[in-house]
Amino acid sequence: MTSFDAIDALRTELFNQYETLENKADILKSPKLKELLASIRTIEPEDRAAFGQAVNQLSQDLKAKVQADSEQVSELPPIDTTAPFDINGSISDFLPAEQGSIHPITQEIAKVSNILSRMGFQIFESREIDDQYHMFESLNFPKGHPARDEYDTFMTVEKDNDGEPFIAPAHTSTMQNRVMKALKGNLEKGLPIAASSIDRVFRNEDLDARHEHTFYQCEGVYVDKGVHAGMLVATLKSFLESYYEKELQVRINPFYFPFTEPSFEFALSCPFCDGEGCNVCSQEGWIELLGCGMIHPNVLRAAAIDPEVYTGFAWGVGVERLIMMKHGIEDIRHFESAKLDFLRQF
Ligand code: DAH
Repeated sequence: MTSFDAIDALRTELFNQYETLENKADILKSPKLKELLASIRTIEPEDRAAFGQAVNQLSQDLKAKVQADSEQVSELPPIDTTAPFDINGSISDFLPAEQGSIHPITQEIAKVSNILSRMGFQIFESREIDDQYHMFESLNFPKGHPARDEYDTFMTVEKDNDGEPFIAPAHTSTMQNRVMKALKGNLEKGLPIAASSIDRVFRNEDLDARHEHTFYQCEGVYVDKGVHAGMLVATLKSFLESYYEKELQVRINPFYFPFTEPSFEFALSCPFCDGEGCNVCSQEGWIELLGCGMIHPNVLRAAAIDPEVYTGFAWGVGVERLIMMKHGIEDIRHFESAKLDFLRQF
């Protein structure tokens, strides 16, 4: 066997051996390969260059094979984003529950829903993708209504049956039509509709200390015979006094929303400084807190409730704003920031 035949024989042997190895890189440490490399020196000068090149070629081919296979192994399988959570995640191993705390928003939502349910409101969850009917039409924003532009909504690429994109709801008012339809039977039994939806909403807006793209709202709806604006003010005052655990001054100013008539902006004396003036209320003593009003007849009609017989009120309030005023939090972006030094204070 010529020395060149020896290289070919070793090539076959090493590539066969390679298949059986658990740690593929071990093939590069093969004593036979080392021996062959060392033998280059002993080859006759006229053949040495060609021999050396052939041995090096074998060594390079083995390295390339190891390299290519190791890249293939380290390529992670793609994550199936449609899979249920428990398939993708084992994060609980990294964050033991005893080191965590309940997020302040979750804690405060529990308090808010507790107060409202004791006041007789049934609590509903909204959804994180909704349609244009619930976001706009059912709330008396017909197509082309200029007030639609005031809500900077996120929309999906997919279209619904009417060819319209779905919407990440920009307010929890999307639930008004649903809860009124769901609880309409109450009216027939002589009982009021009293419901609240507390959930996440989304707006495509510029972020600053007062604006987040993702936040929570608490919506309230109350319908019965003979409901009037005085009942709206009294209900909100008593809800807020329970939440802040103190007496408050409240006032309403006229405002505009398509889904209420009349509409109001509701202000309260600053619960942080009791109206004295502080950073939380920009030294005003008053805080414009929420939108509310008497439910527009068209909104009642959209839920098949006769506005000649029944009237109602509704409100919508940002949950983070409620919490910020309670604890003197200066920047809404803390809530979704996952900053542990912020979260550990709760
Ligand atoms: N949906 C309104 C918003 O996010 C807030 C609001 C105003 C809700 C008046 C209501 C209401 O139910 O009656 O801007």
